[in-house]
Amino acid sequence: MHKEKILVIGASGQIGVELTLALRKIYGANNVVASDLREENNLLKGGPYVSLDVMNKEMLHVQVIRQNITQIYLLAAMLSAKGEKNPGLAWHLNMQGLLNVLDIAREENLKKVYWPSSIAVFGPTSPKQNCPQKTIIEPTTVYGISKFAGEFWCNYYHLKYGVDVRSLRYPGLISYKSEPGGGTTDYAVEIFHEAVEEKKYVSFLEEDTYLPMMYMPDAIKATIELMEAPAENITIRTSYNLSAMSFSPKEISAEIKKHIPEFEISYDPDYRQRIANSWPQSVDDAVARADWGWKHEYDLATMTEDMLKNLPEILQSQD
Ligand code: NAD
Ligand code: SER
Repeated sequence: MHKEKILVIGASGQIGVELTLALRKIYGANNVVASDLREENNLLKGGPYVSLDVMNKEMLHVQVIRQNITQIYLLAAMLSAKGEKNPGLAWHLNMQGLLNVLDIAREENLKKVYWPSSIAVFGPTSPKQNCPQKTIIEPTTVYGISKFAGEFWCNYYHLKYGVDVRSLRYPGLISYKSEPGGGTTDYAVEIFHEAVEEKKYVSFLEEDTYLPMMYMPDAIKATIELMEAPAENITIRTSYNLSAMSFSPKEISAEIKKHIPEFEISYDPDYRQRIANSWPQSVDDAVARADWGWKHEYDLATMTEDMLKNLPEILQSQD
């Protein structure tokens, strides 16, 4: 059997660190090359790392050939909140990075490509509750526009060139190993850091802003299950809806209070409120569940318990 050699681009980010570690467990540390613009995350020291800019197509191509890469996981992107501050750059990175990877995958006949989309593809005209896989999609952020266009580029490369590219529309992701990179759902990670360190948090979203969310272990499980599913089971070549839970700042703060009774939340909404208001409150992922057996494990209570068990140790090690 031909051995897999995987390149993770954007490996030092919130998802990249945990996905790289999970892939190394499956494929062996030496067969998963981490890469990023940023310096290597300490947690990734157990395997190969290359410094790489996904915008430099030639350098990327050289690395793919030199390292005998068979699969790419592309995680480098600019997220929603940062993107609204710099729309031109967000569009350029999110689109050109993807096109560079898809072109190289086609030219080098790579076995598989993974590229994440987001709930941000949906806009104010999409259904707010249980937003279906196929519905009105009119995003109003540059991030959402880039993800929607990216989904159709993936579909195009699959149909026209046979590239086996797969994708998930992640909800907001909550994790403790590495920090988030500038999204609207980042409040749901910040709140844990502030709860542990300060016992109080000022939310940049209003108390009743419900958004689709997921704990990182579920996101990693979904990604790996999607990538391991037989190609004939993959009926969506744009990107799959993926769901686990939906909560508001008020609800997550009440859950944290069960563990830290003195914790207090207050509200000072900023420009990110408009972004959050444009997204659905929950999504329907029935197609992912039917096609490749997706099932989430964590809800708000079990995620909160696990975050508060693990985060203090991580914060202490950074002191
Ligand atoms: P992140 O910002 O934490 O990490 C992105 C990484 O990409 C960073 O380490 C950054 O240094 C790197 N990077 C940026 N520009 C690069 C370049 N030119 N070349 C190489 N590396 C570069 O993002 P994340 O949260 O890990 O998100 C990863 C992917 O998942 C993105 O496509 C994002 O849109 C998607 N996503 C994330 C979430 C979430 O809640 N975290 C939700 C939905 C979708
Ligand atoms: N977590 C992401 C963001 O808020 C959603 O894609 O940008």
